[in-house]
Amino acid sequence: MDSTATYEVKDIKLAEAGKKNIEWAEAQMGALMEIKKRFEKEKPLKGIKVGMALHVTKETAVLVRTLITGGAQVAITGCNPLSTADDVAAALAKEDVKIWAYKGETKEDYYKYLNKVIDFKPQITIDDGCDLVTEIHSKHKELIPSIIGGCEETTTGVIRLKAMERDGALKYPVIAVNDNDTKHLLDNYIGTGESTWDGIKRGTNVLVSGKTVVVAGYGSCGKGVALRAKGMGAKVIVTEVDNFKALQAVYDGYYVMPMDDAAPLGDIFITVTGDIKVIKIRHMEKMKSGVIICNSGHFDVEIDYKGLKEMARSVEEVRPLVEQFIMPSGKTVICLGQARLVNLALAEGHSSEVMDTSFCGQALAVEYCVKNKGKMPASVIRLPPAIDDYIAKLKLDVYKIKIDKLDEEQIKYLSSWHEGT
Ligand SMILES: NC(=O)c1ccc[n+]([C@@H]2O[C@H](COP(=O)([O-])OP(=O)(O)OC[C@H]3O[C@@H](n4cnc5c(N)ncnc54)[C@H](O)[C@@H]3O)[C@@H](O)[C@H]2O)c1
Repeated sequence: MDSTATYEVKDIKLAEAGKKNIEWAEAQMGALMEIKKRFEKEKPLKGIKVGMALHVTKETAVLVRTLITGGAQVAITGCNPLSTADDVAAALAKEDVKIWAYKGETKEDYYKYLNKVIDFKPQITIDDGCDLVTEIHSKHKELIPSIIGGCEETTTGVIRLKAMERDGALKYPVIAVNDNDTKHLLDNYIGTGESTWDGIKRGTNVLVSGKTVVVAGYGSCGKGVALRAKGMGAKVIVTEVDNFKALQAVYDGYYVMPMDDAAPLGDIFITVTGDIKVIKIRHMEKMKSGVIICNSGHFDVEIDYKGLKEMARSVEEVRPLVEQFIMPSGKTVICLGQARLVNLALAEGHSSEVMDTSFCGQALAVEYCVKNKGKMPASVIRLPPAIDDYIAKLKLDVYKIKIDKLDEEQIKYLSSWHEGT
């Protein structure tokens, strides 16, 4: 580990490779680069301290550079022990960003690093999963009066924040960037759909065509994962707990059944529910030998990985982050990425083009917090739809795609109730 007072990263010598990777991402993040150009001129974040707990990837580095260009000071750590790109972390350290992160962090280091970001006394927090907000609210309440607001990146984080709001525990405003249409629809659906398979394929090189794939959860992420599986020629089973989502899956052409029934049929299982113990030991016992199980939901609780480790006769890491468990029955179960986000543990997360829209949301949410300092309630807030629309327009401009405009007659027709049959 290489460390100074302002950083701790795996190997600072990886900085040059990380810089190249960040530039690779920048070339595909045209919408965020437009915002960066404006930030350069206007400096809307001048003097603001931003503390971040986000996956330390090349795309996150582009967001960090954007915020700094806008005048902010940034301190960052990861939001998952297995998702840090060590070369990117080294490059950020070389650029004098305060950073504490490495791939394979222990739980102790994970929380030590979160607290390094808290020691920086951020005025705005950016979270992916709500760990930073939770740590501040439970152990560093003295910081709360100086915090302008926060921004949350993912569904699981928003669920936790809403629970805090419901319990009267949330003490500063947090913008649910996850709930922007340009984030939830593109990142969760398109991004997770593709990158989950990227992680599974890079990790195992398995042929998907002809396999039976079981997708647990048919929300935004599950819909994307199931669609890509179908596109590769798999038979797809969906499991759900929500009647409407289950019906949607039926009409989209998938088999729908409980996990107990799907367990003996599947070859590859993917959880994307945000829920706990969706794949239980009793399910694993029913599975065929050689199945692959993995998770692409936020936390490592969707598969009972702890139970699997306890009950297995033996375990061997047969490829990086690919563990083969021998069950008491003699059958094997292959678990990817220690049941953590498979797309970040075994691949690079979403494509830069996807993170472009997500991180436009983060950059504009930080700017919104600064502009609305002291005016927002201590609750979970959505950005105004006009900001979402602006992000969509920026992205269409990147692709040089033009769309029609409503003319006067259409505007009048759509806003009146007089004209009928
Ligand atoms: N891998 C990534 O890069 C990535 C990206 C975005 C979001 N996420 C995470 O993925 C998870 C899902 O996000 P989403 O936006 O699709 O959420 P969502 O709320 O849209 O969908 C989750 C679905 O899971 C279902 N579900 C809940 N418990 C279940 C159970 N026991 N069995 C079967 N289905 C169950 C729900 O009914 C819901 O339809 C969250 O943890 C989110 O933070 C991961």
